[in-house]
Amino acid sequence: TTNGLARTPPMGWNSWNKFGCKVDEAVIRRTADAIAANGMKEAGYAYIVIDDCWHGSRDADGFITEDRQRFPGGLKALGDYIHGKGLKFGIYSDAGTKTCGGRPGSQGHEYQDALRYARWGVDYLKYDWCSSGVRNAEDAYATMADALRATGRPILFSLCEWGNSKPWLWAAKIGNMWRTTGDITDKWEGKHGHSWGVASIVDLNEPLWPFAGPGHWNDPDMLEVGNGGLSDAEYRAHFSLWAMMAAPLIAGNDVAAMSDATRAILLNRAVIAVDQDPLGAQGHRVWRSGAQEVWVKPMADGGRTLLLWNRGDAPARIAADWPSLGLPATVRLRGRDLWAHTDLGRLSGRYAAEVAPHGVVMVRLAP
Ligand code: DGJ
Repeated sequence: TTNGLARTPPMGWNSWNKFGCKVDEAVIRRTADAIAANGMKEAGYAYIVIDDCWHGSRDADGFITEDRQRFPGGLKALGDYIHGKGLKFGIYSDAGTKTCGGRPGSQGHEYQDALRYARWGVDYLKYDWCSSGVRNAEDAYATMADALRATGRPILFSLCEWGNSKPWLWAAKIGNMWRTTGDITDKWEGKHGHSWGVASIVDLNEPLWPFAGPGHWNDPDMLEVGNGGLSDAEYRAHFSLWAMMAAPLIAGNDVAAMSDATRAILLNRAVIAVDQDPLGAQGHRVWRSGAQEVWVKPMADGGRTLLLWNRGDAPARIAADWPSLGLPATVRLRGRDLWAHTDLGRLSGRYAAEVAPHGVVMVRLAP
């Protein structure tokens, strides 16, 4: 878009994956407190996003109000609180008549809603697709993008139409990120009702790598890291793959009560730096054999980040050779293992490592 935002993939936290419709003022405040105090803010997690179910009803003039049962102090005060912590404030609405949670949608009220959000100090809007009927997605999202622009406030725009209308083909000029899939769920793989496990989401998002870049990103949905359904190795793989895919890093766990292992994943600064690399290239798979995969992400320094992913249930030795990474076979690069936190010295020609079941080895190769 022309809003100048999201030059690198957005980072933050969203209420949905952990709290669903049970979100309230206390949850948001304690999450903002935690993110400002536990190192996440310094690591780049900036946006605190309230997902579905904050809405009350429309007033006599058609303006949206907040649910005062759940948000007794109101969203203006809550936004001020978030800003007071040095963080940014995100909110959620829907392009149809109702949100997925049955609250009022923005259809027909786009300019009013955008104006109200701007008055509340909103910095980020996630815009869902329930109850959208026969609306044309591009028109619906372009209308809200215009409404946001008309407020004069820079508001990051996150499209959430689940990849239905191939937004990667038209949304770069409308929004800063677009969901490419249905909802993520805290499982390793497969389809579960309307939701997808982590590895299955990866398979849906990976082929779209040519469409991402600064200001406009593929969004394979929010992180499940720390929500309890996967092992720590699987969560490391999840986080690494999101970084390789230059995906928005939107934490979705209870950051005020997370384990040390979860914290170590979400706060791995070297992996975050791969996601946030200024070149803004989405990494992709360059080799696959059975359950073994090799991925590469080109970096702004001319190097590469290499990911060896073992999707199988037994340990596997996985090798990557330089030509498959787009490198001359003889070039020597400094290697660093981003999860072991060890230097690998100067590497040339190929790199191979033993990879744990459902695990990854992630190596930054620098000139
Ligand atoms: C569907 C979206 O895909 C989810 O991320 C979440 O926003 C829910 N709707 C909320 O109802």
